[in-house]
Amino acid sequence: MHKTVNLSPRLQLIADKVREGSAVADIGTDHAYVPIYLIQKGIATFAVASDVRKGPVEKAAVNVKKYGLQDRIDVRLGDGLEKIKQGEADTLIVAGMGGVLMCEILSAAVPIVETMDRLILQPMIGQEEVRRWLEGHDFKIIDEALSTEGHKIYNVIVAEKGKEEIDKEVYYEIGKKLIQNQDPLLKRLLLFKINEMHKIIGQLENKDSENASVRLGECRQRLREFEKLMN
Ligand SMILES: C[S@@+](CC[C@H](N)C(=O)[O-])C[C@H]1O[C@@H](n2cnc3c(N)ncnc32)[C@H](O)[C@@H]1O
Repeated sequence: MHKTVNLSPRLQLIADKVREGSAVADIGTDHAYVPIYLIQKGIATFAVASDVRKGPVEKAAVNVKKYGLQDRIDVRLGDGLEKIKQGEADTLIVAGMGGVLMCEILSAAVPIVETMDRLILQPMIGQEEVRRWLEGHDFKIIDEALSTEGHKIYNVIVAEKGKEEIDKEVYYEIGKKLIQNQDPLLKRLLLFKINEMHKIIGQLENKDSENASVRLGECRQRLREFEKLMN
């Protein structure tokens, strides 16, 4: 009998967004813990665990074997979605990397990304870029949630095909669903963003250029928006 894999709160939140009966492609899988968990729990029927680097692929293969799931999880070496065949997965997970890289991966494989029923994205930074990418490629954010590990806060964004117009600039940075869902960690995230903005404003106030003054105006506006959401 194999032990059940334990997920960290960040990975657990990602796994919780996968619907039962899904076939999953986990891109940038590294340890492959999410696919292993999803198969062990009977949430996914099949998974591809793919990574661009040999080291993580080897680690994933060792873990998949350790849990005896070689018949249900295919470990592949490949850049982005290049090793994903059309129709073999309906749920795409891309987690634990920056938003810009995530968008590059998605952009390089639009025809296959468009065949997915659900995207579950967990950008470490650059969440704004990811929300813009989704809006520009006719994906609608249907859910968002935050999780925390230590002092860090992580965003998980769930999207499905559909039209969405993000109607306020601030919602690219703070997902609207987090506000609608009254996410328990939203205030903490806002506080972090407010502190960050104060620091940037402090630096810009000491600069004497036209660029800095335009940027200062934008940052003050953003700060007001964060403070409004806080209340
Ligand atoms: C920090 S790990 C995240 C692992 C796991 N997804 C998680 O959330 O814990 C990022 C992984 O993405 C992989 N990666 C980076 N660029 C990639 C690409 N273009 N295609 C596939 N994997 C990539 C890296 O090799 C690394 O294993």
